[in-house]
Amino acid sequence: MPITTCIFDAYGTLFDVAAAARTAATEPGREGFARHWPQIAESWRLKQLQYTWLRAVTGRHTDFWQVTQDGLDWALEAQGLADEPGLRERLLQLYWELDAYPEVPGMLEALKARGLATAILSNGAPEMLAAAVRSAGIGDLLDDVLSVEAVGIFKPARQVYDMVGARFGCAPREVLFVSSNGWDAAAAADYGFVTAWANRAAEPLERLPAAPAHVLRDLSGLPDLAAR
Ligand code: LAC
Repeated sequence: MPITTCIFDAYGTLFDVAAAARTAATEPGREGFARHWPQIAESWRLKQLQYTWLRAVTGRHTDFWQVTQDGLDWALEAQGLADEPGLRERLLQLYWELDAYPEVPGMLEALKARGLATAILSNGAPEMLAAAVRSAGIGDLLDDVLSVEAVGIFKPARQVYDMVGARFGCAPREVLFVSSNGWDAAAAADYGFVTAWANRAAEPLERLPAAPAHVLRDLSGLPDLAAR
């Protein structure tokens, strides 16, 4: 079955989640933060994701903006930076205007030139995703931006992946699902999507029931994969 539809995870896949902390670390007066920013960026992301999984299994959904703030509060306190003036607000502000990875616009243009449907499927709240898409300037290259808020549970709940067929009327085997999160790629492969894991951090394969069909270092090779 040929691929008709390319579906992208957002954070870490199209948008560089470390950009917020990296940018804040270069700003004047943030020397204390600059010494710790990589650890804070990593534990911010990890806590944010853990909170999504825990809220999904306990049925205590809230939106991704709330878990993004909760994860940051945990990470700042762990490094003793919870009371650093203006830091929390600045990091949260930057999260609304994350950079897209450099290969993203050209890759989406190539997919559109081949007549494929393209969309985001993300944990992100609709307003966060709209702001990130706008600041990256990729809105014209996406047919839709789907948020888990429509089903009220985070990935990797199957209801989230069901949103793709409901929106595009395609079978799972016609979908190329792309994520930089190994766990998201594994769950999407288990669901039945043809899956590409953008393994930007060169991490080991997740030990989960299904594995992605393709493993990439970034998204530049994606248009060729979609054409196979
Ligand atoms: C998302 C997170 C998981 O965009 O990266 O859904």
